[in-house]
Amino acid sequence: AGQPELIVALDAEALAQAAAERVMARISANPSRIAICLTGGSSPKKLYQLLGSDEWRGRIPWDRVHWFIGDERFVPESDPLNNMAVARATFLDRNAAAGHVHPIPTTAENPDASAAAYARELQAFYGSDQLDPARPLFDMVLMGAGPDGHTASLFPGYPEIEETRRWVVGVPKANVAPFVPRVSLTLPVLASCREMLFEIAGHDKQPILTRLLNGENLPAVRACSNRETVWLVDRAALPEGIRGPR
Ligand code: 6PG
Repeated sequence: AGQPELIVALDAEALAQAAAERVMARISANPSRIAICLTGGSSPKKLYQLLGSDEWRGRIPWDRVHWFIGDERFVPESDPLNNMAVARATFLDRNAAAGHVHPIPTTAENPDASAAAYARELQAFYGSDQLDPARPLFDMVLMGAGPDGHTASLFPGYPEIEETRRWVVGVPKANVAPFVPRVSLTLPVLASCREMLFEIAGHDKQPILTRLLNGENLPAVRACSNRETVWLVDRAALPEGIRGPR
């Protein structure tokens, strides 16, 4: 795994602003088709609201941007737990171009079938089932970190974290709430990006951020790609010792 760069924002609002600016910079850096891999959980919600706000939406070339998701809870789209449904409701439905939103289908008979279907979709988009390091799949991959150090739906100690062949895997049982089966992109696929951006915010994240900064062998550490990897954190999440002056 690569060495992440730590960027500290004052609070959750400033963190979302900084994240939106990074997303915009990535978009501006690529004059052709752009692929962004979104994430679930609560951390990116403010970012999604910003991207859909009048201030930001006009700056995004929606006809060139494709939106994917790094992991999904295996629940119907109508379920509030569905990660892509949250992103759609927050900013994509009103803005994204037709056919440019790529949800993980949860209508398949089980998470493995859903994973296989999404792998095919990603490979069709990419134009190959072999990842070429010289040609990353995603321009940007957004990530979060759970209280146990998981990222996407790759949980510590689970076999899926070791997967090197399949692009997407079914995860029968989650390690933390919500305890529904998951479907997750695997580490090599998430790492196939120009930039990986973690958002880690709030005092609740302080214990896990401390462990991550200590370099514990947890999924969120192992996920760090050799490309530009940024941990965007707010001061509330920082370990006491490195919080700095108020
Ligand atoms: C999910 C997410 C997951 C998330 C972390 C952090 O489906 O739950 O994709 O990987 O990023 O669990 O979640 P919070 O942002 O809610 O803390």
